[in-house]
Amino acid sequence: MTVQDGYHKAAAIAARTERRWATLSIAIVVTVTVLAVVAGIHRATMPQARVETIDPSRLHLSGEFIESNLGSVLEPDGSVTVRAIGQQYSFTPACILVPAHTPITLRATSADVIHGILIRGTNVNTMLVPGYVSEQSMRFEKTGDYLMPCQEFCSFGHEGMWGRVQVIEKADFAEKAKGGGRLSCVGQ
Ligand code: CUA
Repeated sequence: MTVQDGYHKAAAIAARTERRWATLSIAIVVTVTVLAVVAGIHRATMPQARVETIDPSRLHLSGEFIESNLGSVLEPDGSVTVRAIGQQYSFTPACILVPAHTPITLRATSADVIHGILIRGTNVNTMLVPGYVSEQSMRFEKTGDYLMPCQEFCSFGHEGMWGRVQVIEKADFAEKAKGGGRLSCVGQ
């Protein structure tokens, strides 16, 4: 084998190795692209794990969000469920009454356009989308009043769309809940 032959052989091996690496890097790019596309399509076509729908035009007629069922209710297990609706430009009830140191489930929806419920000083922040029920867990360790502005622009009255959450002692809440029915602090 001459020096020239040896040189050609080495060059051929180098070229083959380079091609192999080039093929591998293209394969990686293609794989990642396919994964991203598949994941994106899957997300776009699959519903969330849990979606509750509701007819926004019939909220006041029957079902869970009928006016007489809005407000706070003490459940047999000691937790509290709050049901509320948002509409241009108020929340019903406008003042939500809840006990401190209690697991609370907020269930809310919108009667017209998209609104948002945000309770200042807490991590409660959820959108109210017509046609869907928003559910969020909350718990208050301190009694007192919390402001609850609408946090989603919902047309010209948005700035004035405010509610309030009043957190009272657990025992006081239990006392008020004795008569059954739905509690709120509207007019207090
Ligand atoms: Cu309702 Cu902004």
